[in-house]
Amino acid sequence: MDMEELLSERIKNTPPSFIRSILKTAVDPEIISFAGGLPNPISFPETSLLHSMERIVKKYGSKCFQYSITAGLPELREYIAKRYNTKFGLNLSLDNILITTGSQQALDLIGKVFLNENDEVILENPSYLGAIQAFSQYKPKFYQIELKENGMDLEQLKLNLNNKIKFIYTIPNFQNPTGLSYSKQIREDMANLLKDKNTVLIEDDPYGDLQFEGSRLPYIGAGKLKNSIILGTFSKTVTPGMRIGFVISENKEIIRNLSVAKEASDLHSNIFSQYLIWDYLINNDIEEHISKIKTLYKKQSSAMLNAMAQYFPKDVKYTTPQGGMFLWVTLPENISAMKMFPKALEKKVVYVPGDPFYIGRKDVNAMRLNYTNADCQTIDEGIKRLGMLLKEKI
Ligand SMILES: Cc1ncc(COP(=O)(O)O)c(C=O)c1O
Repeated sequence: MDMEELLSERIKNTPPSFIRSILKTAVDPEIISFAGGLPNPISFPETSLLHSMERIVKKYGSKCFQYSITAGLPELREYIAKRYNTKFGLNLSLDNILITTGSQQALDLIGKVFLNENDEVILENPSYLGAIQAFSQYKPKFYQIELKENGMDLEQLKLNLNNKIKFIYTIPNFQNPTGLSYSKQIREDMANLLKDKNTVLIEDDPYGDLQFEGSRLPYIGAGKLKNSIILGTFSKTVTPGMRIGFVISENKEIIRNLSVAKEASDLHSNIFSQYLIWDYLINNDIEEHISKIKTLYKKQSSAMLNAMAQYFPKDVKYTTPQGGMFLWVTLPENISAMKMFPKALEKKVVYVPGDPFYIGRKDVNAMRLNYTNADCQTIDEGIKRLGMLLKEKI
């Protein structure tokens, strides 16, 4: 039997992750990888987590290992609601929170709950490839709206808003892949634009906590738009391997429908991880921990920026992130980062070419670089190798 005949249109329609295939090829220890989106493992609070593990097993015993409720551990949901209320002046209770298996699962559930085939979805241009992958399974029509230096191009958004747009997917803080953020003004203008529209606004925010300096901006929709969703995760502030993320919505109808989809998908997220994260959060100073991660990543991003200033040809442009884990490099127009990739591999440095962050574009003259998973010296060496290659090409 031909496998093509057996497979669903859904899976045929879903692009495999370029990053995961790179990670497989990049096993040579001499390869310097700026490709993945891995947090620096030195930021994992292993000792405190070990204490938490012992404590939860002693204190809660079989509850840590038993089936549990779909919405997630009430104590953890309560904690999250309080944290967002304090930070952003929201009015959330635990019923506004759904714990998910990473925010990646939330993306899948959102697709499942809102999308029929050919429904329309708005994304930033470029957008997070994992979201493109998750939503693609539900076969929507994508519209990508230019992401500018200070946020989504609202004129373009206005032109594309119609009553078939089910949701708008944004990453307002230190976006993956570009590292760009929305300004206060754009946030306000966007909320005004969407106020009377029957559409959902998703703000996927794994990186907001990792702002190097200054205080945080309010969300675009939370507290203002009826159908607003925030996605959060402990992947970048505690550890990604525990796979604990969450959905926040003031609209309980949204939470209820996502819970039904989640129940059908995995009953509930790993309850041991939920107890562990919760115990860790209430027994440690998470703000201090996050502040250490920010100091580390700021240093690493500076190392990358300094190296790029030194080794890259002058007509290569790049963003200067104020937080998060990525920056975005734009090459002269005729250079495809994808075509250049095998040469980079020869020089033992890898990155993610721009293509998978766009719908239906090939040979994009841009690449995403991650600066969090290599020390400063390695970053310098990797950028030097990439700089040599770029000088050969240009
Ligand atoms: C924008 C964005 N959303 C979601 C995710 C998924 O994160 P997780 O499932 O680990 O919470 C990532 C991970 O890199 C991301 O960059």
